[in-house]
Amino acid sequence: MTNPITATPNRVEHQLTDKGYVPVYTTAVVEQPWSSYTGDDHGVWATLFERQQQVLVGRASDEFLRNQRAMGMTPDRIPRFDDLNAVLRKTTGWELVGVEGLLPELTFFDHLANRRFPVTWWIRKPEQLDYLSEPDLFHDLFGHVPLLMNPVFADYMQAYGCGGVKAHGIGPDALAQLTRLYWYTVEFGLIATGEGLRIYGSGIVSSGGESRYCLESDAPNRLGFDLLRVMRTRYRIDTFQKTYFVIDGFEQLMAATRPDFVPYYQQLAAQPSIPAGEVLDTDRVIHRGTGEGWATDADF
Ligand SMILES: [Fe+2]
Repeated sequence: MTNPITATPNRVEHQLTDKGYVPVYTTAVVEQPWSSYTGDDHGVWATLFERQQQVLVGRASDEFLRNQRAMGMTPDRIPRFDDLNAVLRKTTGWELVGVEGLLPELTFFDHLANRRFPVTWWIRKPEQLDYLSEPDLFHDLFGHVPLLMNPVFADYMQAYGCGGVKAHGIGPDALAQLTRLYWYTVEFGLIATGEGLRIYGSGIVSSGGESRYCLESDAPNRLGFDLLRVMRTRYRIDTFQKTYFVIDGFEQLMAATRPDFVPYYQQLAAQPSIPAGEVLDTDRVIHRGTGEGWATDADF
């Protein structure tokens, strides 16, 4: 079912979530209003696309950049969801669905569990090139979609959605712990390669500043991925991350996600959360951050 499109995103209410008060939109799937994108909209896409592509060479995982090309993403114009879907369906059976913006958690998990990735149909304004507090088309499409062509990552995303539906039924603590996993992998993950650390997290690849910071700054910690450790770690929503977790490959993520999480939630219930910048004796430390410039207020 699709809804008639309106000129502005259809906000319904602000809701208190684990990310603070965020606008929650209608949960309906909408058709991408491609013909109503303005010259400014396509211009914003072109500017951000070209800028990030330059920044990401040698920083993002090769596969991420290769998949963008294979999907036919170019700076020329905002891609059509239909065109990307033709490629995605053939490779991993995923499809993109248009949405008005950030979704309530259960709706979001349900999409992922059914191999549907919700993409915000609208793009930021020219004056918002460098910062936007919520996901838009550029973040969702440029950042999230290319790796859905990787079969293992595609399965991980679906497993995450199934886990989310389950955690939602268990309670807020389970949900918060699972959200940290998404945050430190899908949004802000790094991957070790033969050529060094590379970015695969969407929150990083869609940010010029953080693409450099996460790899080159001495300030943040870079630690080996450990599922239960990640699920205890608080994070930043308003500044660059204090800690990045490094996976050895997408198989590692998939393997970590395969078991039933219920015993993990029980185990974690007795353990305190970990501040975003803390390094534990048990961590596999790739780089211990200097902490320079870190915000001192509370982490999420
Ligand atoms: Fe995202």
